[in-house]
Amino acid sequence: VGLREEIGEQPAAIRRLLVEGREAIARAAAAIRAADVESVLVAARGTSDHAAIYAQYVLGARHRLPVGLATPSLVTLYGVEPAFRHMAVIGISQSGASPDVVAVLGAAHRQRVPTIAITNTRGSPLAESADHVIELHAGEERAVAATKTYTTELVAIALLSALLADDQEAASDVEALPAVVEAALEVESTARQLATERAGLDRCVVLGRGFEYATAREWALKMKELARVIADPYSAADFQHGPLALLEAGFPVLAVVPSGNAQDGLVELLGRLSAEFGVDLVTVTDRVGESRLGAATMQIPGGTPDWLTPVVSIVPCQLFAYHLARRKGEDPDAPRHIRKVTLTR
Ligand code: F6R
Repeated sequence: VGLREEIGEQPAAIRRLLVEGREAIARAAAAIRAADVESVLVAARGTSDHAAIYAQYVLGARHRLPVGLATPSLVTLYGVEPAFRHMAVIGISQSGASPDVVAVLGAAHRQRVPTIAITNTRGSPLAESADHVIELHAGEERAVAATKTYTTELVAIALLSALLADDQEAASDVEALPAVVEAALEVESTARQLATERAGLDRCVVLGRGFEYATAREWALKMKELARVIADPYSAADFQHGPLALLEAGFPVLAVVPSGNAQDGLVELLGRLSAEFGVDLVTVTDRVGESRLGAATMQIPGGTPDWLTPVVSIVPCQLFAYHLARRKGEDPDAPRHIRKVTLTR
């Protein structure tokens, strides 16, 4: 089983999580509700850290919970245990192995605040260090690059939010995701074609905003590790505070532009980048017939609420990076220099 198969397994993996993981997620939600939680800290690395960014927006937008990304080096390099008062601490890691992520949960556990592990690996050090374990049920992920564990991490966070709010409508929207992700896989021929036309791509910026900032970061990481593209991800807001100076005619700009609060500003910005600088724009969107986005568009299904769209919008990005890697002669199943499990301390 390789990366392409694992991309295709995502609808089934999400479906499994929604059934087999629901009780554990409900218990974690109950624990957060029972404790005097005023904010959340999330410890994670790499792709899992992008799921943490998604959690910042979901728990922020839907629960008014300030969510911080942990700084694990404070614990491991400087020997400082932050004061976690009134926090819940969540560790996200498919392998559950990285010592620095585990160290943050250990410190939180000693301070007796609720700890939650979101992991694909039962019995892993991360799982062992947490009060509550949300298993992803994604099945073994063999390709080095994470795909189905990323989307299941997002869905675990989304369902946690729905259950935390006791929000039936949100829970039904989450349950609709496997079918939507299934439909999004149909974009593959477009993704392959757009990647093939860009076989020389070796640098780009990747833009998203709000819920889709996580997608922009994850797309950029897939571009780097699979296709060896120097891909620099930005919030569309931050991008205008300096990096805009990079642009010139033909500069590749990848952007995630779904419906929702971030859409108008993004469409306007991208229209300007095309008109003023003649950038080479590739977009992922659920909008139909938005001429300012240009022709190189990977269309995802419409109708999903914006807070859940990141689960869907990453699929064309994964496929684009996969096909670009193949076109460039890279092995998408085994990127050079990296391993499936990276242990940082
Ligand atoms: C990216 C990738 C890595 C991992 C990171 C964290 O495709 O695979 O960035 O996401 O090493 O791994 P886990 O989730 O096992 O802690």
